Formats: sequence, C-alpha cells, structure tokens
Amino acid sequence: MTLADIGVYGLGTMGSALALNLAEKGFEVAVSNREADWIPDFLGRAGSLAEQLQGHADLKGFVAALKTPRVILFMIPSGEPLDAMIETVAPFLQSADTLIDGGNADFADTNRRVEDLERTGVHFVGMGVSGGGHGARHGPSLMVGGSDHAWTQLRPMVESIAARFENDPCVDHLGPNGAGHFVKTVHNGIEYADMQMIAEVYGILRDKAGMSASRVAEVFDAWSDGPLSSYLVEITAKVLAANDGQTGTPIVDQILDQAGQKGTGRWTVIEALKLGQSASAIEAAVGARSWSAERDARRMAEGLLDPGSTMPISIDLALLESALVAGRILSHGQGFRVLAAASDAFDWSLDLARIAEIWRAGCIIRSRLLDDIATAFRSDPPFGHLVLSDTIRPALSLGVPALRKVVSGAIGAGQPVPALAGALSWYDSLRNGRGTTNLIQAQRDFFGTHGFERLDDLGAKHHGPWA
Ligand code: 6PG
Repeated sequence: MTLADIGVYGLGTMGSALALNLAEKGFEVAVSNREADWIPDFLGRAGSLAEQLQGHADLKGFVAALKTPRVILFMIPSGEPLDAMIETVAPFLQSADTLIDGGNADFADTNRRVEDLERTGVHFVGMGVSGGGHGARHGPSLMVGGSDHAWTQLRPMVESIAARFENDPCVDHLGPNGAGHFVKTVHNGIEYADMQMIAEVYGILRDKAGMSASRVAEVFDAWSDGPLSSYLVEITAKVLAANDGQTGTPIVDQILDQAGQKGTGRWTVIEALKLGQSASAIEAAVGARSWSAERDARRMAEGLLDPGSTMPISIDLALLESALVAGRILSHGQGFRVLAAASDAFDWSLDLARIAEIWRAGCIIRSRLLDDIATAFRSDPPFGHLVLSDTIRPALSLGVPALRKVVSGAIGAGQPVPALAGALSWYDSLRNGRGTTNLIQAQRDFFGTHGFERLDDLGAKHHGPWA
C-alpha cells in the first residue's frame, strides 16, 4: 500500500471534510477514528475519492501507514480528549514527526503541548480552521502556528486545500507555538461581535420598525452587495428568509432566544484584558450570549423593570447600514489591537496585514472590509491602530455619525445595542486627547497614596493636597 502524505484522526464533520478536501487535491490520506465503525461509513460515502483514502481502525497501523517524517491532523474535541490522544499516539512517533490540532483550542494549552512534545523531538502545531463544514471541504481559511520545520512539512498540503482570494491561498504560518490558535480565537471574537451587531440591527427592525423576518431578510440581502458585503450578512438574509417546514412561518421566529458558545469569544475577552486591552464590542457580544441564557429572569424582568419614558426611533435603512459598517470596523479594530498586543507580549512578530489577507476568503468573518484592513496594515497605521490608518479613517468618518444616531436612537427607545454602543464608546474614548482618568488617579492617591504624574512634571511621582 502507498504510504500516506497525512493522517487525519477524527471523522466528525470537520475531520471528514478536511480528509476529502486533501484527497481531492491529490494527497494520499490515512484516516482513523475512535469509533471504528465510522471509518467504513466515511469511506463508503467518499465516492471516487476513496481511492486516495486508507482507513485504519488500529492506531499503530494508522501511524505506520504514513510517510516519515509523519504529519497527523487531529480533528477531535480539544482539552482532555486531545491530551489523552497525544499520550496514546506518542509511543509510535519519531523525532521530526508533526502533530496538528485543528480544533478551537486555548492557545495556552497549545503552548504547553508544544513544550511537552519538544523534548521528544515531535512538533506540535495549533492550526485554526475557519469556514465550518463547507469551508473545510471546499476551502477553509487556515491559521498555522508552530515551528518552521512543521510549516515546511505542511505547507504544500494546506496551501492546496485552503480557500483562495484572487489566487492567494488563505493560509499562512503566522507565528510559533500557539500563535495560530490565538489568531483563530481572536477571529472568533470578531465573529461574535459581528454576529451580535447584526442581531442588534435585526432587533431594531423587528421590535421598533415592526418588520417581518422576510422583510428584514430583504434588507440584509440588499446590504450584502454594498460596503457590508460579507458571508455573515449574506447568511443572515438567507436565515431570515427561511420558513419552518412545520408551521410555514419564518424559522427564526420559532427559535429560542438563547445563544450557545463554546468559549473562543470569552477567551478573546480574557486575553484582551490580560494584555491590557479593551475589546468592549466583543465583550458585549459574549455578555449578550451569556445573559440570553437567563430566559426566565428576562421574561419576569420584562414585566417588572420600567424602561422609563422612551422615545420612538426613526428607522432609516441607509443610516442603519452605515452604522453597522462603522461598528464592524471598530470591532475589527479592537480584535487587531488584541493581536498586536499579543504579538508584542509573546514576541510573535505577527503580520497583521497577512492575517487580514488570509481572512478575505474561506473563513466565517470574510468580508469586503478585510481587503481594506489588509491595505491599512500594509501602510503601518500610527501606533498600530487600524482606526488611525489613512485607508480606514474616511469610512469611519462616514459611518460614525450614523452609528451615533442609531445608538442614541436605540438608547432613547429602550432597545439594547450593547455591542454597537460599546464600539462607539471605545471610539470616543480613543479620540479623547484629554481623558478623565486624571480624576481616577486623584481618587487612587486619596485613598491609597498611589501617586500621580503632573502634566508639568511627567515621570515624577506626586501626591495630592488631601487632608
Ligand atoms: C469558524 C467558526 C467555528 C465555530 C466556532 C464558534 O471559524 O468556522 O468560528 O470555529 O463556529 O466554534 O462556535 P461558538 O459560537 O459555539 O462559540
């Protein structure tokens, strides 16, 4: 039997799709799975691609079927199952072999696994895979971490299977250790904020303009050709237009308003805070999912909590579109700022423009905006801030007045817009040359003698004339 170029372990949706994608691009792929009966099922469904695929129920046989140095891609739940798997497979591996985790893992776990395996000469790669099942099968965006050696091994395969933007493969080696998983985490944080802002605009149209789901679908459909052009806006239109087979009514109206989350959005916020950054739009999106879980309390509060006197909000679709554009730019600004801070803190030399480039196709947050973001980072914006770049500022000048009107209108009407409002407040804080933390410093000095700097004597510590 021909030795395989790569082994894919884990034949769930993502693993199967990646194995088929690799086989379609001409690579010989060995596959295995914990539940052995999934293997013949998968091979049976592979059609003509089965010729490029070898199934191995036995782990030792699976490893032995690979060309050396070996490359094994794990597509299994991250956390303990992955650690257990690494321990089981390790005795069959040799120095210079590479293990890849293609799941959504906490980058700190990836750093630990890289370090643990380094002693044995085995390379460990955390690879962010975005695009869902369809992307994995036909072209995902791939964010690769780990060593240069591992990248040399992987590169021909991942460049073949990745999505392409104007023929540029949406994959790159972004940095060492857990850098790939960190970038994927922030990708997901931005994904959360984008989805939340879209949901906030949907809320205004549904609850304040009284639009039906199918009418809102038309609005998003019209927007998907303009500056908001993106996968998420496109699928929003499709989701809103879909009818429930049972009732014939829009399916979205039948879905419980409680959103799940597996952790990547929360990790983005946690890492942002650890790095001294604010990702308020992303935090608002995580928070909105979290409190959506408290359905009973929300239903009771609806009758108990007085909104105060509210004002009607005037609905202007062009204004909402511009507001969403501005909110999207600002949440990307926050996400990229977290990436820049991580790059400095962990000495990763992340190429932010390249990250924007590999997000232009294949991934969930792909959008027209990302091409402009790539251009913006190529010309080194002041202080590394996306929002200060010459490429981005004109779009913000157009969008922020709309964002301000939409947020103030929504607040006046008692309609929650936490992500849009968080983004706007971040923008306003950033453009505030003389902020208000002078007062915080005075308070800190008052109760804790923490000291402050004077504007006329920077660098020296002073105390206030408190009694
Ligand atoms: C992607 C997605 C994918 C998945 C996340 C988010 O880039 O393809 O981000 O990884 O949708 O796990 O899931 P949650 O919304 O459940 O956190």
